[in-house]
Amino acid sequence: MGDRVLPADRPESIRLAAEVIRAGGLVAFPTETVYGLGCDALNPDAAAKVFEAKQRPTFDPLIVHLADRSMVDTVAKSVPLSAQRLMDTFWPGPLTLIVPKQPAVPDLVTAGLPTVAIRIPDHPIARSLIREAQTPIAAPSANPFGYVSPTTAQHVCDGLGGKVDLILDGGPCPVGVESTILSLAGARPELLRPGSLTLEAIQAIIGPVDRATSAAETVHVPGQSPRHYATRTPVTVLPAPRVWPVLQGYERVGLLAMSEPRDIVGRFHTVEVLSPSGDLREAARHLFAALRKLDALGLDRIYAEPCEETGLGFAIMDRLRRCATPA
Ligand code: TXA
Ligand code: MG
Repeated sequence: MGDRVLPADRPESIRLAAEVIRAGGLVAFPTETVYGLGCDALNPDAAAKVFEAKQRPTFDPLIVHLADRSMVDTVAKSVPLSAQRLMDTFWPGPLTLIVPKQPAVPDLVTAGLPTVAIRIPDHPIARSLIREAQTPIAAPSANPFGYVSPTTAQHVCDGLGGKVDLILDGGPCPVGVESTILSLAGARPELLRPGSLTLEAIQAIIGPVDRATSAAETVHVPGQSPRHYATRTPVTVLPAPRVWPVLQGYERVGLLAMSEPRDIVGRFHTVEVLSPSGDLREAARHLFAALRKLDALGLDRIYAEPCEETGLGFAIMDRLRRCATPA
């Protein structure tokens, strides 16, 4: 791989990575959702390196990752009761909460917003790294801005090779789709990004949640800009499951199928099946790796089969649509 990649299951790796963070460097590390590109969340110079490495616009704020609840007060000025109940239920886990920020969090990390995005990842390596570094870690997904998020250390090398001080290889991410982002900084709870924790699960704890309209999304969450998570190859989302397109013979076309497709022998150049049995968790886990695989083949087009938009299917369809929106 050429880059400094260390196996994450060794204590020395974590110690070294924590030193890099404390010294203001960049460490890519696994979380349960996707790999993050981490830096000391309280060091503005370190945060500047993250934006530089990703070519990320500075109006797009970062998520601050914590090792445990005792770190919340370092970065959050106040935590509404609804946020506390969600933390009790879903942390550690793929739920990012937007709350008022402490002045200690640099403006660059929050893009000048009075709020901060926080979560405790449900991944032992991520939490050991934060604990060992003794500071919250700001980390966006470890991919160049706008591209598909990484779910393996190899994906990180492919996109950011040479721009990261150290990559902790903890194997493939078990969940595969980014965290759900919920703002609790306004009058009513608002979903800013669907993710791997379902909206249904959140509403079961705190009641109705507003959904950001697409206009509001582009203001609040730049990472939600229409064409994000995008492949280089054009993607078309099919109108319904198992409804295959009429293909022109000269086109090299790939299919991203939700489950094992039937009767399509020879139609597509390549088929990637997200879950043979149509299990949404399995599909989410394989989604980004499958998109990257298809994207590497230099196809003319990728057709993506849709899934039902409930539960985890909401986040999967959100990512597919953002991949498919024309630039
Ligand atoms: O699962 C995840 O959330 C992964 C892992 C590494 O934790 N992280 C991730 O980060 O997906 P990123 O930077 O790719 O997406 C974070 C999103 C961005 O779209 C950003 O705009 C939004 O969070 N965000 C961060 N702080 C915010 C704030 N104060 N208010 C509103 N949105 C915020
Ligand atoms: Mg991202």
